[in-house]
Amino acid sequence: MRDGALPSTALIIFGAGGDLSRRKLLPGLYNLGVDGHLPEGFAVVGVARTDLDDERFRALAREGTERFSRRPVEAARWDAFAQRLFYLCGSFEDPQTFGDLTRRLGALEPATGSAGGHRVFYLSIPPSRIGACVEQLRDAGFVRPAGGAADSRIIVEKPLGHDLASARAINDTLAAVFDERQIFRIDHYLGKETVQNLLVLRFANAILEPLWNSKYVDHVQITVAEEEGVGTRGGYYEEAGALRDMVQNHILQVLALVAMEPPWSLDADVIRDARMEVLRCLRPLRGEDVARFAVRAQYGAATVHGEEVPGYRREDRVKADSTTETFVALKCFIDNWRWAGVPFYLRTGKRLPRRASEVAVCFKPVPQILFNAHGREPLAPNTLVIRIQPDEGFALGLASKQPGARGGVHPVEMDFKYSAAYAGSSQEAYERLLLDVMAGDATLFMRRDAVELSWRWVSDVLDAWVATGNRFIPEYPAGGWGPVEAERLIAADGRAWRTP
Ligand code: BG6
Repeated sequence: MRDGALPSTALIIFGAGGDLSRRKLLPGLYNLGVDGHLPEGFAVVGVARTDLDDERFRALAREGTERFSRRPVEAARWDAFAQRLFYLCGSFEDPQTFGDLTRRLGALEPATGSAGGHRVFYLSIPPSRIGACVEQLRDAGFVRPAGGAADSRIIVEKPLGHDLASARAINDTLAAVFDERQIFRIDHYLGKETVQNLLVLRFANAILEPLWNSKYVDHVQITVAEEEGVGTRGGYYEEAGALRDMVQNHILQVLALVAMEPPWSLDADVIRDARMEVLRCLRPLRGEDVARFAVRAQYGAATVHGEEVPGYRREDRVKADSTTETFVALKCFIDNWRWAGVPFYLRTGKRLPRRASEVAVCFKPVPQILFNAHGREPLAPNTLVIRIQPDEGFALGLASKQPGARGGVHPVEMDFKYSAAYAGSSQEAYERLLLDVMAGDATLFMRRDAVELSWRWVSDVLDAWVATGNRFIPEYPAGGWGPVEAERLIAADGRAWRTP
């Protein structure tokens, strides 16, 4: 949806030796290069502590790209891309690194045609270190004013803090050095094609919006299921848990897109205001309501697809008596005119049966006086299921007559699949988001106020859990759909979770 070439840019990745860079950023940039989306003048400088030179960094980048790119690496294209990759060995806590970076950029920007362009600093580093890095950038003179032809931009990753207070502290540090227009807080779910399509589906179709409210919608379910366990990220996850890791950001942002009012334009701040209004209206979950409407659980050992899978407490760098949740299910309400009384059921977990993320909008049942007059088998209500991943697409469940003289009513589906409609793989979330930063478009990024509102909502739940002494956490077997408590949460309302 963007016109025109992008301005010259130098992208500096702090923490370039990490997983994010290897799995997402470098493969994403390679694909942008193949698609001809990178600016003419463009360079990447990876900064990390490991002792590498440009050539070894390029070799590592190639290895990562071969493993994780959405399309295979072609030698000639790779060589052209690799010429734009550079490496600087150093620590983002050491002022000398920033002096070295100034000299390095001074030499390589003219050589790559990116001199006089924007500089984008990607902080792929722990949140607790963001402040230190930002201050070094300021002290070394890397911060140029917003809005000019050669400004500086900063990208920060989630989790932005650990709670409301730490998120505020990080935001304060960022705000002391950068203008809000220069700060890009990533929530990669907003970069997913299917998540962006929520806006188009809702506001480019005449038939959905009139039904999108409490008069016709019975309830909404949002599921983000992961098949994997915590893997090598036990150390991080142990401090985070599912609520901080997935709900505070990804799920609340998806909820905001599903529930928001029509924005009056596509301007970044108009859309971000509309998303934020939903968070403002999210009814707080506090005190006893947390026990009633929030379920947490942890995966236990089980045999999955014939393999022994360890329970969470046996994972690397996880405490043997950990009470960190790997699953959470919530029932919440959006207290505004449109959604009054409509429950939104949210759930996410690791080690569930499969990777499947979807939004299901479940409509109210029709009167049963014609096709279920004897009350034997209720008619399946209409459901619109938006599949975020995998098998991206959406399906509308309708009732149809079964052929034949005695044919009853049968549920059928109108199903749209991206893979059938569009050739090739779609752009990955990080590709889209990196392009947006270069273009200076913040629509798909988190604004400070939204991050803090989400933390406020999530913190109430976390506080209530801490108040219970964190003594007991139910277990679910790895490979299952979560604990029985999650079933009960929704069954208490006469409803059931869908199986994606
Ligand atoms: C990350 C979380 O933000 O999102 C991970 O930290 C999670 O724990 C990941 O696995 C899921 O992303 P995706 O794009 O694979 O659904």
